[in-house]
Amino acid sequence: MSMKLPFFKTKQESPIETNELTNVPEHVAIIMDGNGRWAKKKGLPRIAGHKEGMDVVKRTIELASKHNIKILTLFAFSTENWKRPKPEVEYLLRLPKEFLHTYLPDLIKNNVRIETIGDFDSLPDFTKEAVQYAKEQTKNNDGLLVNFALNYGSRSEIMRAIKLIMRDVDDEKLSLDKLDEDLLSTYLYTQGISDPDLLIRTSGERRLSNFLLWQLAYTEFWFTDVLWPDFSEEIFIEALMDFQKRSRRYGGI
Ligand code: FPP
Repeated sequence: MSMKLPFFKTKQESPIETNELTNVPEHVAIIMDGNGRWAKKKGLPRIAGHKEGMDVVKRTIELASKHNIKILTLFAFSTENWKRPKPEVEYLLRLPKEFLHTYLPDLIKNNVRIETIGDFDSLPDFTKEAVQYAKEQTKNNDGLLVNFALNYGSRSEIMRAIKLIMRDVDDEKLSLDKLDEDLLSTYLYTQGISDPDLLIRTSGERRLSNFLLWQLAYTEFWFTDVLWPDFSEEIFIEALMDFQKRSRRYGGI
């Protein structure tokens, strides 16, 4: 069973001090993988893994705040996840509502802002309503930005950007010679958000699974065999410490 910490435990109570950490990544993105395998190992249904994974999301938000990370992007539901059995899809799409029902007051109290990336309009009403409410309630908060990737796929994000650009060119709102990387970025769901500095993927898989393909161009990757429900402060710190050692040259020398 994963270690339980009370939500937003104070620094003093924590077993791990932050003062060893310098050069903390501003933006951490996480592919939270391995819920199904975690459940299977315990002889539980897959949804039990997702439920535990939801509690780990809560704990990870707490840790990101504590370690002064500014943006946390979490891959919660991909455009490909619709292929799963209907009851699992339904369960996954109900999790944001359950999560926010339980934790929104804490998030508000702790100055967290909730945002999403992905095809929001195609989500079921029960997901949209809960998430929209949380976005509105937290929109003026200037602490940690928690960005849930919900019904997100990077290729469809890029396709959408191309269509929006073509429409703006047609409407003469945009001239093609003005189009550069920065301008293209403003047509992505992540508009206005800096690119991730660190990508973490749990569960031993080493692939991107259609996540932030444009935005991860210069991101540092960190993989762990730990399954998402077992993700802990120790593992998070290990990733942050490893990030500190990286030399980022962005193609220079
Ligand atoms: C991948 O594990 C995980 C997902 C598809 C869902 C991730 C969702 C959560 C961690 C909870 C989200 C919580 C909120 C608040 C939105 P998998 O099911 O593919 O695992 P497996 O590869 O072991 O089968």
